Amino acid sequence: MARYLITSAIPYINGIKHLGNLVGSQLPADLFARFQRGRGNEVLFLCATDEHGTPAELAAAKAGKPVAEYCAEMHEVQSDIANRFGLSFDHFGRSSSPQNHRLTQHFAGKLDEAGLIREVSERQVYSNADGRFLPDRYIEGTCPNCGYDKARGDQCENCTKQLDPTDLINPRSAISGSTDLKVRETKHLYLRQSALKDELDSWIDSKSDWPVLTTSIAKKWLHDGDGLQDRGITRDLDWGIPVRKGEAEWPGMEGKVFYVWFDAPIEYIACAKEWTDARGAPDAEWERWWRTDKGADDVRYIQFMGKDNVPFHTLSFPATILGSGEPWKMVDHLKSFNYLNYDGGQFSTSQGRGVFMDQALDILPADYWRWWLLSHAPESSDSEFTWENFQVSVNKDLADVLGNFVSRITKFCRSKFGEVVPEGGAYGAAETALIENLTTRIRAYEGFMEAMEVRKSAQELRAIWVLGNEYLQSAAPWTTFKEDPETAAMQVRLGLNLIRLYAVLSAPFIPDASARMLAAMQTEDATWPGDVAEALAALPAGHAFTVPDVLFAKIADEQREDWQTRFAGVRT
Ligand code: MF3
Ligand code: ZN
Repeated sequence: MARYLITSAIPYINGIKHLGNLVGSQLPADLFARFQRGRGNEVLFLCATDEHGTPAELAAAKAGKPVAEYCAEMHEVQSDIANRFGLSFDHFGRSSSPQNHRLTQHFAGKLDEAGLIREVSERQVYSNADGRFLPDRYIEGTCPNCGYDKARGDQCENCTKQLDPTDLINPRSAISGSTDLKVRETKHLYLRQSALKDELDSWIDSKSDWPVLTTSIAKKWLHDGDGLQDRGITRDLDWGIPVRKGEAEWPGMEGKVFYVWFDAPIEYIACAKEWTDARGAPDAEWERWWRTDKGADDVRYIQFMGKDNVPFHTLSFPATILGSGEPWKMVDHLKSFNYLNYDGGQFSTSQGRGVFMDQALDILPADYWRWWLLSHAPESSDSEFTWENFQVSVNKDLADVLGNFVSRITKFCRSKFGEVVPEGGAYGAAETALIENLTTRIRAYEGFMEAMEVRKSAQELRAIWVLGNEYLQSAAPWTTFKEDPETAAMQVRLGLNLIRLYAVLSAPFIPDASARMLAAMQTEDATWPGDVAEALAALPAGHAFTVPDVLFAKIADEQREDWQTRFAGVRT
């Protein structure tokens, strides 16, 4: 039994995620986790909410809630939606957990011991009215270049000029609007990534099976310009993990917290401890996934993320781990995604544009979305969600191909043989050919799933469903029955067994429908097929079943038009 550690990039806490976020990390990670479990491998699948940073603070302020309370509530909301989408995390943690506090402080202490932290004095804008330092993007004023009066301290949105907060005319706090701002000295910690450059470089070189797209991003950051830059890992914020060296105070760093991108990936590890702590299980149980000195050397670790996250996962987080000098498990394979666009534009959280996870589930069950999103995953390039395309895929793939197969064979059997698997005679040439074709396609499907080729896996699965339909069409048990009920019975027995097989193979994509298919077949045998002929004998003659309700309803034109209008604007 192989062991797979799987993490999905942890979603920001500030609001419900849209379908573009979902398909870029959590959903494909779930697909892979379910596949590996289905094959009988041992899986630990972790995700969490990313709860620190200014966006979390501001979202809480906007909601009129203390930030801790806001985060706790939003965590529950995200956790509930994740469940309803069938995301099968072994644990859905929180980057604000005590476990992550301790571990993040531990890493900082180790990095400091290794001489990899330096202190830097910086001049930064302080707002008296807000009682805090302001990050560049939370300072607004008039652009010196074009006169636009809502330019941000990092960039003018109107003329795109890159700015420094001190360039702005009449600067004010974007939080309170106050103009009572002044520049103050403040001290920050920097992680000396430059000192780890060679180590990171050879680590990346050892990953010969990584896509060029991924390694080239890492290489660019390592070598372009002045090479890998040191990185500020602290911030002047109230909300976050207090800066400490392990358990000890960090003189001069009082009142400061770690930068969100420092503690967020550490939560991948802390989350595993949350998982065992929640059950009162011993540390050895999570350490065997994360510590190479405690059993994790035979773990295969795969991370899923959107392309914008790649530098943090190929360089920053590895720098933290390598720099600690401790035997933590490092990533083996990193699967990254392009963007999913929405109907001619971008999905946007800040503008409320697109379909959000809660809205999607209000319209249709998770499997409809899972199928469309995964079969159109933005792998080699960005892809686009359109309502027309969604309607066509659902109606063709799910309703016409899979749903129709299940319904025809079960209903025909009930009408002629009752709700039990009939006996019938031996297989003929058509059945042998079908089994051969299925075998070829199932092995190809496994290969694509193993390689995390999401779209190709979906295509292959669909082709497997199509084989069943084609067989049914040409075997035509309803015609055979008139002349040769024995043969018809055999064809039906094969068809019913195909339903069970399809349930097993399809479970990673459409877990609910798969469970309903198994329930209808009155079996819990979800063993992954080795020998296909054997798998098609799992339900013996005499085994009872029931005709399931419609698996997938077709989307009517009026529905599609209605949704199209409803989601044309922005969410309010
Ligand atoms: N919250 C980040 C995003 O949505 C992802 C954080 S991934 C981790 O882009 F590595 F930091 F955990
Ligand atoms: Zn401008």
